[in-house]
Amino acid sequence: MNIAVFGTGYVGLVTGACLANLGHKVHCVDIDERKIKQLQEGIISFFEPGLVELVAKNVNRGRLLFTADAQSAIQSAEAIFNCVGTPSQESGSADLRHVFAVAQTVARTAQGYKLLINKSTVPPGTAQQCASLIQETNPSSEVEVASNPEFLAEGKAVHDFTHPDKIVFGAKTMKAYALLRRIYTGRARTYIPILETDWETAEMIKYANNSFLAAKISFVNELANICERVGADVKMVTQAMGLDYRINPRFLNPGIGYGGSCFPKDVRALIHTAKEKGYDAALLREVDLLNERQKKKLLLKVKDRFGLALHGHRFTIWGASFKPQTSDIRESPALVLIKELLEHGAEVSVFDPVAQGEVRNVFGTTLQYASSLAESVVGSSAVILATEWDEFRNVNFAELGRTMKHKIVFDGRNIYEPEMVKEDGFEYVGVGRK
Ligand SMILES: NC(=O)c1ccc[n+]([C@@H]2O[C@H](COP(=O)([O-])OP(=O)(O)OC[C@H]3O[C@@H](n4cnc5c(N)ncnc54)[C@H](O)[C@@H]3O)[C@@H](O)[C@H]2O)c1
Repeated sequence: MNIAVFGTGYVGLVTGACLANLGHKVHCVDIDERKIKQLQEGIISFFEPGLVELVAKNVNRGRLLFTADAQSAIQSAEAIFNCVGTPSQESGSADLRHVFAVAQTVARTAQGYKLLINKSTVPPGTAQQCASLIQETNPSSEVEVASNPEFLAEGKAVHDFTHPDKIVFGAKTMKAYALLRRIYTGRARTYIPILETDWETAEMIKYANNSFLAAKISFVNELANICERVGADVKMVTQAMGLDYRINPRFLNPGIGYGGSCFPKDVRALIHTAKEKGYDAALLREVDLLNERQKKKLLLKVKDRFGLALHGHRFTIWGASFKPQTSDIRESPALVLIKELLEHGAEVSVFDPVAQGEVRNVFGTTLQYASSLAESVVGSSAVILATEWDEFRNVNFAELGRTMKHKIVFDGRNIYEPEMVKEDGFEYVGVGRK
């Protein structure tokens, strides 16, 4: 099938490459012409494991093309995926202008029946708004709208797209469901559950998923904070909880809060959507609030240890991306820590295996950018682990400590065992650890 994909970010590029790999001919479109030029040259502006290889393979087979020419991509396509960004606005609501811009372009250009599939995360009611907008823009348009939310996680996006737990189709007609099934035929054959529903339910499923996971994280962070006060070890507490089949061990790791381009904005968008409908989503408001508080948790511990003014101290931040295996630093807790440390007069040295460039774009020359673990700790008063990259798991603290001013590790993701770190002569400070 000929398919157009609008937006070549994390979701659009993965969707385009994976659909091409299923045998479809895919035109990926972006308004960012620089991005398209780079993609035509084989350059991907972000790090996502396995994506470079998948893109190259399908470009070589002539099934994956990149273009800034939206009109020709729409004309040749039977189905058009809308994968543009839906960032948070000041009020917390999702900014839908890019989603609507694509709908209008499709309405103006498309001839005959085509399916516009919203894959971006959008509040319930957006498919209906897109359908109305298409009719207003071009009353004779035969474009139909569908919702097909994406559940991939950065860092394993290619795997998640090809092995999803479920595929959700929100549509209004049998014709739309049938077309969606044809697009995913290769996947459906591998017995992945497909849920066919209406627009609003499909849109709501995505928010329900992300909000639940965010709530799970804020819940364990809350437990960690209580554990610290009662002398319990949260790692053992959550391990035991995870063994309860009703709970499941995943997303039960306390730390310094969730970040990224999805959880924070999706929780806020759902709170906002509920508010618009006259409902106060109190639990979700707390989830968001607790997460913002948790991002500053380690800073409080640093201040407890070193005092309020941090002049004369250099701190080493390990990991800047919002989680391992991605270069994405959007809403990363590490950025909050860096900013606060600088504001308190400290010097900061940062080391991230892939996101150094992204951090430099935000902080410029106000930080030191180390090119190795060893370089990152020279003269440092403490290591602060913000992101649990594998590179940080097996470090020789005894060796690293030789060049440090003080031997302290603040473990924002609880990846070290306190006893082992102490054997290497380090003070250990974790989250909710005994
Ligand atoms: N990143 C994730 O892990 C993830 C997972 C599931 C769902 N989502 C959702 O998918 C959507 C996209 O997220 P992302 O992280 O890929 O965003 P992104 O910011 O990485 O990419 C969005 C792309 O859309 C392009 N764009 C904007 N307007 C356009 C237009 N009119 N025509 C063509 N291209 C246009 C931008 O230039 C950009 O390249 C969001 O709604 C997000 O919530 C993201």
